[in-house]
Amino acid sequence: MKIFSGTANKDLAQKIADALHIPLSPLEIYVFPDEEKRVRVIDKIIDEDCVVVQSTSTPADQNYMELFFIVDAIKRSGAKSVTAVVPYLGYQRQDHIFRDGEAVSLEVIIETLEAVGVNRLITLDLHSIKIPELFHIPVTHFSALPVFAQEIKRAKWNDDNTFLVSPDMGGIRRIKKLSEMLSDMPFAAIEKDRDLITGKITKMEISVLPKNKDGKAKKRALIVDDMISSGNTVVPACELLIKKGIGEIFVFATHAVFSLNAPELLEKSLAKKVFVTDTINIPKEKRFEKLKVLSVADMIAKEIR
Ligand code: R5P
Repeated sequence: MKIFSGTANKDLAQKIADALHIPLSPLEIYVFPDEEKRVRVIDKIIDEDCVVVQSTSTPADQNYMELFFIVDAIKRSGAKSVTAVVPYLGYQRQDHIFRDGEAVSLEVIIETLEAVGVNRLITLDLHSIKIPELFHIPVTHFSALPVFAQEIKRAKWNDDNTFLVSPDMGGIRRIKKLSEMLSDMPFAAIEKDRDLITGKITKMEISVLPKNKDGKAKKRALIVDDMISSGNTVVPACELLIKKGIGEIFVFATHAVFSLNAPELLEKSLAKKVFVTDTINIPKEKRFEKLKVLSVADMIAKEIR
């Protein structure tokens, strides 16, 4: 087996390769002055099963193009198969038509991935569990929740004073799964409405808060989401919970999309700590004090194996 990395998340690719005890195979990725890219496979890979690791986070378009070129170069070099490990699948939130006249961007991405010759996709915490059905190739879709459960146990937050919160109704399935991993930790969900044009949150409410064994309100909330992009979901969710009398809040999100000034908003937020994974590379300038990054490299290596 050969493992290659695009430029989007080399640290994660290296960790996966280390976990598999395979060196990363070299790729020549040359950027022309006009920013077009030329990709070339250096090693002989005839009849090899190849794996390409590339997160398609910001800049999603460039990272996707690079992935397409890498897969094409591998196929043309005689590889037997190509597995694309796309820890964060860009455009996943555009998986259907929200308003008449819109493109279904995710379908275009899927068609292109299949057209260039990807034989299998491995990805994590997709926004919707229905996304794998849109593919015609096998998709391994797994979750970072076990990593979060481990961290919650390590911090000894699996007690009677703690509950899980989904910041929107779409996250209920996720929160139920995590609850099961934590011996049925109680959970609650926030009702959230978003303006489809501006993306702004128009409503955030929570009606029922779980109580502890003595009938008193639980004091620690763990917000769990698939991703943090602008921060406009988790930051007001923290404010709402504090208003409801919750004493401390910790945020867990798989994908650190961190667009615009999200890092600043998160650092200033009422959350005590923000846990994310390394599905997306977080550059130095986007790291902040409250941030803790947990690795999913071992989980991905296991899936590849
Ligand atoms: C929404 O349905 C998702 O689960 C996330 O809550 C959302 O995409 C996060 O985006 P933002 O940080 O921009 O609110």
